[in-house]
Amino acid sequence: MFNQKLYFNKKTIFSNRISVSPMCQYKSLNGFPSDWHYHHLRNLMETGAGSLTVESTSVSKIGKITHFDLCLYNYNHYLEHKKLIRYLKKIRNIPIIIQLSHSGRKGSTEIPWKKKNKPLKQKKWQTIAPSPISRAKGWPKPKEMSIKKISEVVKQFENSAKLAFKAGYDGVEIHMAHGYLIHQFCSPISNLRNDEYGLKKNKYKFPIEVIKSIKKIKPKYKIIGARVTGTDHLKNGIKISDAKNLINKLKKEGLEYVCVSSGGIIPITNLKASKGFRFKISKEIKKDCKIITRTSGMINDFKTIKKFLKGNNIDLVAIGRKLVQDKFFLLNEKKFNLNYQLPQYKYCLKN
Ligand SMILES: Cc1cc2nc3c(=O)[nH]c(=O)nc-3n(C[C@H](O)[C@H](O)[C@H](O)COP(=O)(O)O)c2cc1C
Repeated sequence: MFNQKLYFNKKTIFSNRISVSPMCQYKSLNGFPSDWHYHHLRNLMETGAGSLTVESTSVSKIGKITHFDLCLYNYNHYLEHKKLIRYLKKIRNIPIIIQLSHSGRKGSTEIPWKKKNKPLKQKKWQTIAPSPISRAKGWPKPKEMSIKKISEVVKQFENSAKLAFKAGYDGVEIHMAHGYLIHQFCSPISNLRNDEYGLKKNKYKFPIEVIKSIKKIKPKYKIIGARVTGTDHLKNGIKISDAKNLINKLKKEGLEYVCVSSGGIIPITNLKASKGFRFKISKEIKKDCKIITRTSGMINDFKTIKKFLKGNNIDLVAIGRKLVQDKFFLLNEKKFNLNYQLPQYKYCLKN
C-alpha cells in the first residue's frame, strides 16, 4: 500500500504514501533560498518519497523564527523560489508543497543549534500574538494584534500563497501547529481574546479567514493543506475534539489535507515522544473528519510504516530525520518497490 498513488486531482498526484516532512534549515539570508537549500532538498527529492514539503517559510519579515528563516513574500523571493523549484523538478517530478507560516510570539529567537529555544537579546523585533502573553518565562511580551493587524496577516498568507503557486509549488501547507501564530489563535493557552477572534465566540475565525483567502486565489489543480495540532498535551490546551472541530470548519472552506502534529504551544508540555506516537490521534481524525491525513513523529522503520498504512487508517506517513540521516533508507528496502531509482544508480547498482 505504500506504493499506491494518492490523487488530489488529475494533476497533483503523490507518487507513493511517504512524504518528506518539512524541516527548517535556518540557512537563508534575507529570506532567500541558498545553495544549502539546493543541496539539502535535492538529497530529499532523491530519497524516493512520493512528495516533499519544503520547510516553514515566513509570510512576512516579523513572521520568521530567526533572522535566517526562509521567506516568500516579495517579488525577489518569488524569483528565487521559482529557480529552486525548476531545479528540483528536473531531478524528480513529484509534488512539492511549501509550508507557509507566521511565528507570532514564537519569533525573534536565536538559531537553535547556537541557543535552543532562546529569544534574541540583540537585533530582536517586537513579536505579535492574539493576546499579550509571553511564550514562557524569560520570553518577551508580544503585542496583542488589532483587528486591522489580523486582516493584514490574512492578506500576507494570501500573498505568499499566490507567489508560491506562481513559482511552481504544487500546493501550500499552512502551519497551524508547533506554537506558531495560527496555533496561538487556536489554543486556549495563548488566546484569551473576548472579541470575534477569541475562542468563545466565532471559533477559529482567523484560520478560517486564512484558508478562505487562499482558496479564493488558488489555481484549479493546486492544493491546500495544513499542519494542525491534535493536542497541546496540556490540561487546559487543545483537545482532539477541538482539532476535529477546527478541521471540519476548514474543510468546508477548501482544506484538502491535514498533517497531525501536537505540542509546542509552550516550550515544555506533557508530550512524551515515542515511535509513531501521533498515529492514534491521526487515525481518529481521519475517521471522523474524512480528510486526507498524514501522520508523523519518529517513524523510522518499515514495519511501522507498513503497519500504519495498512487498512487505510491514514493516507500518508511523513518522515523527517531518518531521511536526512540515510538518504537511501527507502530505496534500500526491496519490499517497498517504490518504482523510483535514479537510472544512473539503478544501472550501476543492479548487481
Ligand atoms: C531540524 C528540524 C526542523 C523542523 N522544521 C519543521 C518545520 O519547518 N515545519 C514543521 O511543521 N515541522 C518541522 N519539524 C518537525 C518535523 O517535520 C517532524 O514532524 C519531526 O521531526 C518528527 O518526525 P521525524 O521523527 O520523522 O523527524 C522539524 C524537525 C526537525 C528535526
